[in-house]
Amino acid sequence: MNALLNWLDSRTGYKHLIQEALYEPIPGGARWRYVWGSTLSFVFMTQVITGFFLWSAYSPSTQSAWESVNYIQNEMAFGWLVRGIHHFAAQAMMILLALHFFQVIIDGAYKAPREVNFWLGLVLLQIVLGLSLTGYLLPWDQKGYYATQVATNIAGVTPVIGSQVQQIAQGGSTYGHQTLTRFFALHAGVLPTLLVAFLALHIAVFRRHGIKCPDQHLSKPQGMFWPDQILKDAIACLAVLATILYFVVTKGAELSSPADPAEAYSAPRPEWYFLFLFRFLKFEEIDKLGLAFGAIYIPGLVFTIIALMPFIGKWKLGHRFNVAFSLGLLLGASYLTVLALREDAADPDYVAAVKEAHRDSVRAVVLVRRDGGAPPEGALSLLKSDPLTQGPRLFARHCSSCHRYDGHDGTGRMIVITKGEGEHKTTEPVPPQAPDLGKFGTRDWATDVLTNYHDVFAPLKNLTLDEKNIGERFLAGDMAKWVTDNKAALTDPANADDLKALAEFLVQESGRKDQGSIDVLLSSAGKELFSSGKLKNGALSSSCADCHDPGNGAPTLVGYGSEAWLKRFIQTPDHADFYGANNAMVPFVGKLSDRELQLLVDWMTGNYYRPDGAPVH
Ligand code: HEC
Ligand code: HEC
Repeated sequence: MNALLNWLDSRTGYKHLIQEALYEPIPGGARWRYVWGSTLSFVFMTQVITGFFLWSAYSPSTQSAWESVNYIQNEMAFGWLVRGIHHFAAQAMMILLALHFFQVIIDGAYKAPREVNFWLGLVLLQIVLGLSLTGYLLPWDQKGYYATQVATNIAGVTPVIGSQVQQIAQGGSTYGHQTLTRFFALHAGVLPTLLVAFLALHIAVFRRHGIKCPDQHLSKPQGMFWPDQILKDAIACLAVLATILYFVVTKGAELSSPADPAEAYSAPRPEWYFLFLFRFLKFEEIDKLGLAFGAIYIPGLVFTIIALMPFIGKWKLGHRFNVAFSLGLLLGASYLTVLALREDAADPDYVAAVKEAHRDSVRAVVLVRRDGGAPPEGALSLLKSDPLTQGPRLFARHCSSCHRYDGHDGTGRMIVITKGEGEHKTTEPVPPQAPDLGKFGTRDWATDVLTNYHDVFAPLKNLTLDEKNIGERFLAGDMAKWVTDNKAALTDPANADDLKALAEFLVQESGRKDQGSIDVLLSSAGKELFSSGKLKNGALSSSCADCHDPGNGAPTLVGYGSEAWLKRFIQTPDHADFYGANNAMVPFVGKLSDRELQLLVDWMTGNYYRPDGAPVH
């Protein structure tokens, strides 16, 4: 064995190399504060390894990127773990870079003769930023798609060569498929190669000058890289790994819904470590000076100052300036980050958009599972033909100007109007002009209409453009009067079963499958009562059929709330079978395509796929 190793050594000189690598003296002894460089190299190796695994399952195209990442995340064995590590290790790298930077600045390790290595470090920093920027787009989800679009637009405001830079980054004049393939090539090929090259240089130059020991420790005994520092480095690397794993297990890497160029995501945000810049650009004063000023000139200036630090640090005061400047940057960036997070949390539109994207992503995963894989045209098409996803949006777009849905616009956003300026800005809810349809077609809805008619239809008082006074007429109309006359009888505890029977009958008419099983006895009692008007205790002033049987003037309740009834109603609420001359709703015939109407009505009647058969809300 020894002979073999000696032979190998005589041919390669490996023993000397190991000697060189391990027995590096450390003036002042091993210290915890020197571990950052090693942890960074370790995390980078982790990224290379997990990156290769991800690569082996990733497919860079607009129809398959999200689908392949979804496969990695939700189907592939340990895919969530590999992707989670890659995701959180990238963020760990940012933190470690910051720590490394501060250690170098505070210890004065950027000063002569180590200037060149400091600059190499700055290049490495830029490469890592490039890696995270390009990586953010690769899942091709709403979050990454729209945030990266902001970034490529920033590239476009570079002075003089802006449009060229943007074209190069985008891979053409439009943002899309070519951007994805280009970013992938950068992320998995160009940038890692550059990183390895610059890291090798960085370490080689570092070895030439050794560790910069803070002066006060120089008197302490010298240590050795092996085993003193290596032990500390190894413990630090393990701690970093443990932290990453903690986040992978408790939080997991997020995958938002498939990117949809047609549906602007109103809440694009970069990763948290770029948030400060994002917030900085939103300051009115900065915004006024133009995007190039905030996104290019100022960061460029800051970066130039940092690059000049080795020269500034030649003076004692200069070193203090460098330390103060770096701490100032850190404090400023932290402040802006916290500000951005707090503002977002307090912004109902942002919160609703994030929730919606989250719902969509959960739903996309469910639909892909239902079909045993994504269709060739991509998972987005599944969302586009899903009532649960599209119904709320259609409702928000077409119906929420008058109606509400459980108080919101269907997608979870409140309808508010902003009044005043600046400090005095307040938001007030916009009053609805038509009934809240959140419970439309349920037993509760039927009960409410029969006993609380005025409350249900009260929003009609707010009808704008109501020259015919329809709202008032409704609230003083036949049904309203009838409910006033019969409310006492219908809410009489002795007649509780009769009220239930009427509601059961109306729900049976809808034929909806999401309302639980129908109590057939109860519903036929309701049908009976509908025509007879006879209650257990007393009788109705007139029976429902007196008015509601076709031709008697009131809206038809045949098939009330069913898919067919709703479709006809939405298209022609002014038809004599519905509200006739009393109608105040816009007829949607010709305003909604058949497909849109179908999606909307399927959503309103609960007719959509549920993974476990239970109602989804
Ligand atoms: C211009 C305001 C307005 C818009 C927009 C509007 N509605 Fe209405 N809707 C009404 C009013 C007012 C009523 C009350 C009955 C009437 O006047 O026809 C009503 C009644 C209804 C009803 C019957 C339930 C009830 O309250 O009697 C349904 C169902 C309905 N609307 C669905 C929709 C849907 C779905 C949309 C969107 C595609 C929509 N409406 C858009 C004003 C509107
Ligand atoms: C006196 C005539 C009359 C009687 C009796 C009557 N209704 Fe009505 N109903 C109306 C009219 C008219 C409307 C339309 C609103 C309006 O113009 O006042 C209406 C509206 C309704 C609606 C809302 C329809 C929609 O589009 O959402 C329901 C539900 C309803 N009635 C159920 C009943 C039931 C159930 C009974 C019996 C328990 C009943 N009505 C008894 C006249 C009547």
